[in-house]
Amino acid sequence: MAAELTATPEQLEAAVASLRAGELVAFPTETVYGLGADARNPAAVRRIFEVKGRPAHHPVIVHLARLGQLRDWARDVPPAALLLAQRFWPGPLTLVLPRAPGVSDAVTGGQDTVALRVPSHPMAQQLLVAFQSGIAAPSANRYGRVSPTRAEHVREELGSAVKVILDGGDCPIGLESTIVSFQVGRARLLRPGAVTAEQIRQVVGELEVGADEASPRVPGSTAAHYAPATPLTIVPAAQLDAQVAASARSAPVAVLAWRPPLEALAAVTWINAGKIAARYGHDLYNHLRTLDKAGCRRILVQEVPEGEDWVAIRDRLRRAAAGAGLEDAETEVEAT
Ligand code: TXA
Ligand code: MG
Repeated sequence: MAAELTATPEQLEAAVASLRAGELVAFPTETVYGLGADARNPAAVRRIFEVKGRPAHHPVIVHLARLGQLRDWARDVPPAALLLAQRFWPGPLTLVLPRAPGVSDAVTGGQDTVALRVPSHPMAQQLLVAFQSGIAAPSANRYGRVSPTRAEHVREELGSAVKVILDGGDCPIGLESTIVSFQVGRARLLRPGAVTAEQIRQVVGELEVGADEASPRVPGSTAAHYAPATPLTIVPAAQLDAQVAASARSAPVAVLAWRPPLEALAAVTWINAGKIAARYGHDLYNHLRTLDKAGCRRILVQEVPEGEDWVAIRDRLRRAAAGAGLEDAETEVEAT
């Protein structure tokens, strides 16, 4: 049976009670599943890090029910940030702003900024409205690994460590939110997502892209994130069939492509994810999980097409290639 998009009153009550008791609740958003804790309870937020296996100094996003709560969490909201919030919230955009007094170091990783987002998923909205305060939540995966886009991914990965998992089915976007920071009022894109750089420029005018020295730390921006355990290589589109054939001679190989294979090959698990970016992005993490479990020595990914729609996908694939197969990806490649 397909999962419902809304929670029952009983499920909601149990989730809110857990949050109030300092426990963790996994919940769906339109991007990926989050692992939530009461953002005003530092001990509960620290528990997120334990369960994820994430280093404690990493900041997490605070999820809010509505824009009206912004000033409880951010002490300074530049006009351009407010315009972005008005345009894209609720939705897959995170704003990094100077934190308000009282926002805990557990949430911000000790930085002077806080990341904020109003998700649009109906179940996330229900939870946030019922909870009436901020929910700190990173993606509900083990640190450095592929984000969960279905409740069963959360169960698989975090198991009994999380008692309450709200099941809202498949996340409609499937890739993490776009992150924009404001340093001295200037907008900077820290992580590409479904809200594109072009859409942001239309609202704020100038947008710098990528982290610089002065940018806040974004651990999800280090190379080794979003990675499967099997080594993953991105292959230029024109070389795909030759490389697959060569690899398959010595060991089973998994392939993520945007077209079918030219010929059927034994020892090849081939997923054709298609050429529509929104669909490709929606399915990406699920496909990587499937291929990771296919018992292959390598995953070969056909380089994706050019274009704005593919920027976030390209970014996640590049990180997956950098981090895949490393036993302890974070400690080896973590830059901050
Ligand atoms: O779509 C999403 O953003 C999902 C859903 C659950 O909302 N969340 C998510 O959280 O992807 P997480 O923790 O996996 O990635 C959030 C990123 C991290 O790379 C973190 O470093 C960055 O946001 N971040 C959080 N607070 C920050 C801050 N104050 N300054 C800079 N980066 C920050
Ligand atoms: Mg994450």
